[in-house]
Formats: sequence, C-alpha cells, structure tokens
Amino acid sequence: MIAQLETWLADLTGYDTVSLQPNAGSQGELAGLLAIRAYHASRGESGREVCLVPSSAHGTNAASAVIAGLRVVVVASDARGNIDLDDLKQKIKDHGDELAAIMITYPSTHGVYEEEVRTVCELVHDAGGQVYVDGANLNALLQVARPGEFGGDVSHLNLHKTFCIPHGGGGPGVGPVAAKAHLAPFLPGHPAIQQEEHPVVGEGNRPHGGAPVSQAPYGSPSILPITWTYIRLMGPDGLRHATGAAVLAANYMARRLSEAYEILYTGENGLVAHECIVDLRPFTARTGITVDDVAKRLIDYGFHAPTMSFPVAGTFMIEPTESEDLAEIDRFVDAMLMIAKEAEEVVSGTWPVDDNPWWAPPHRGIDRRGRVDPPVLAGDRSVSGQLDRARGRFGARQRTDADPVQVLAAGTAHRPGLRGPQPRAHLAARLREPLAPREPDPCEHR
Ligand SMILES: Cc1ncc(COP(=O)(O)O)c(C=O)c1O
Repeated sequence: MIAQLETWLADLTGYDTVSLQPNAGSQGELAGLLAIRAYHASRGESGREVCLVPSSAHGTNAASAVIAGLRVVVVASDARGNIDLDDLKQKIKDHGDELAAIMITYPSTHGVYEEEVRTVCELVHDAGGQVYVDGANLNALLQVARPGEFGGDVSHLNLHKTFCIPHGGGGPGVGPVAAKAHLAPFLPGHPAIQQEEHPVVGEGNRPHGGAPVSQAPYGSPSILPITWTYIRLMGPDGLRHATGAAVLAANYMARRLSEAYEILYTGENGLVAHECIVDLRPFTARTGITVDDVAKRLIDYGFHAPTMSFPVAGTFMIEPTESEDLAEIDRFVDAMLMIAKEAEEVVSGTWPVDDNPWWAPPHRGIDRRGRVDPPVLAGDRSVSGQLDRARGRFGARQRTDADPVQVLAAGTAHRPGLRGPQPRAHLAARLREPLAPREPDPCEHR
C-alpha cells in the first residue's frame, strides 16, 4: 500500500519518486534541501550553499534552508505579489557559483499563481541551481498542474492539507517529499527497517540513500491508509473537483469581503488562488481598530481568527479550503461584514472610542455558530449584554480581568449605563451554569 501511494503521489505531482518519511511539511522541506545539497556535493559543487527564498514564500522555507546549512537570500516581490524577476536576476548574478537552490511556494502565500513560474525555474536552472517547489498548497493545483512538470526538481506536499488529513491539532502529519530521479539517491533512507528500494517512474526501483529525517522509517504510517482511501475514492475527476472547490471558495470569500475590506493581491484577472490576504491596514488607519481587535471580536461571533499578520503584518490570510461549505463561508463573511459595520459606528461617534464592542472582547453569550445574541447588536437581553452594561456599556479595557461573576455579584447598580434594578443573584447564578445543550445542527455530519 505504501509503495502504491508513493507512485500515485509521484504521478499526481509530476515527479519520479516519493519518500513518505517526513512527519511534517517543514520536515519534507528539510529532506528536499538535504537532497539538493548532497546532489551538488556528489558533483563536486559543495560550494553551492545559497538558497534564494522569495518574500512570498511560506515562513518555514527560510527556516528549513538554515537548518539544512544553506544561506538564505531573500528575493523581492512586485506590486502584484509575484516574484520580482529583475531582483531574481540580480541575486542569481550576485551569487553565481554559490547558488544552490530557489524555494518557491506555488501558489504563493500571497495567494497568487506566479505567472512567470516557468521563467523563474529556467533562470535558476541555467545558473546551475535546483528548484524546490513548496507543494503544501497543492490543494490549489491538484489535477490542474504538476510542479514536476513546470520546473520543480523537488517538492514536499502536506497530506495534512490536500489529502484528507486534518491540518493542525498537533498532528500527526505527513509531508512526503517528491523528487526527480536525479535526486532519488539522496532522499531519506533508514538504516534499519525501511524497504531499501522505492519505485522510480520508468526505472523500476531504486534505493533512497540519504540520511533519515525522522525516527520512524515511514514517518506516521498509521494515517497513510486515509490518504490512500481518499485518492482511491475521489479518483482523478474528484481530485480536480476538490481543487476547483478550494479555489472557488477563496474567490467567493474574497469577492464578498471586498465589499468592506481590501484584498491585498490578486492576479491580472482580479482573482486569487486558494487563499487571500485581507488587508486590514487601511481599515485600521481609518478606524483605529487593529487586526488583533478584529481577531478578538471574531470570537464573539464564534470564530477562531484566521492566520494573522502573516505573511504581511496587519493582515488576515484566509484559506477556506475545499472543506468548508457555503453556509459556513457565508457565516464567516457575514461576521466580518458586521464587524466592519460596527467599526463605522465608532468612527461616526455613535459609540464612544473607549466604550464600544472592541473594548474587552471576547464577550460571552454567543454560541459556537453565532446564533445567540451578539451583545451589542441584539439589544442586550443576553447575559453578556447585561454583563457588558454592568461593566460600563461594553466593558472597559481596564476591567477585562474582572471575574464576570464578581462584577455582577458586587452590585451593578452604580455602574454607568444601567437602568432599573439588576437581577444580580440570578445573573451570577446563570453565569455559573453549564451551557445549554445545543440544538441539532443540520451540518453535524460534516
Ligand atoms: C505553504 C506551506 N508550506 C509549508 C508548510 C509547513 O507545513 P508543516 O506545518 O506541516 O510543517 C505549510 C503549513 O501549513 C504551508 O502552508
């Protein structure tokens, strides 16, 4: 089964051979870069130790390059988020025979498909370097393009992203490293148990003879049957459909969010890849409300914030993937649009700068699916609304550490914004109660 999965992944990525040993995407990067180093050394070119990393690359890329003993040189991006070709040419020239590799994230962490990706690969190859394509974003490429075909020598994939393994939560993950045949001898082997020979497309089997990158010969083998089954059940058309769904979801979300926020990078046709960067900096400049404030306010609506301030400070990077359904995407967008509306209330002076929903979130009283009562919007019949009023209208920041039960029990009548007698004991008791059982969720099967 493992050998079959290796060949399937090689076929899907356009490479010749795959090692399933790395336990994470970043470990796959390390394995790939070590293979590149060993390849150069085998040709008497061990002086090649510069790794070009575009500013649009994923953050782990530079870290892996350093761990692999390479020197990182950053290549600038242009105004559209693509690799700046002039800067790339200059850096290639500057480093000449020291050039070991470039690491491209494709599509990039800026959420764009590099239009000149083939040219980038050619320029590096012509200078004697190898091309590492970070393939963790393969859920935006699968069955549409293959990194091994557009110029990559080696890539890692994240099974915990594109192939049905949950991303996050502490693992385990698998970051298979896929390579062209000339790198096969340098992919991670294992001195003890791993099968020595691995399938190489068109060549039968060949050993992976590099040093191990993980203790276990096949990394996290217990999850490989999930990926095997996913590929088998989806088939080529199903995998292409999933790619389309991931890209469509990101574009739908970007288009709806652009009603209130700026999308930092788009391609020439105004579209994004499978993720988009929502630029909150103009919003912050106008309203004073920061990316952290929006993140905390999102909790009130039942969402954990998306990736914050990466790869660009002051932004959200949002990646809905193929797995979120339309209702969930709409719910998230609605919350973001509502948050933008709330900010306008502060800008227009309806809500004071120091007494508004942005002070002291998260508030209580909104369930996981955002159905209960956003404290500010629903007229404050909720516990959280009462609590907000008890703390001053929305909860002043200096009181954020206060225990809500204490606040209510201590007597709220003297707080500003309260009218009439307060059912203190009742509220305090309610705050101690466990949450009410949830109504059945029509989407629960997901
Ligand atoms: C583009 C990209 N590259 C590399 C990685 C690193 O993968 P891991 O977190 O498994 O180390 C990720 C993680 O999400 C990623 O999105």
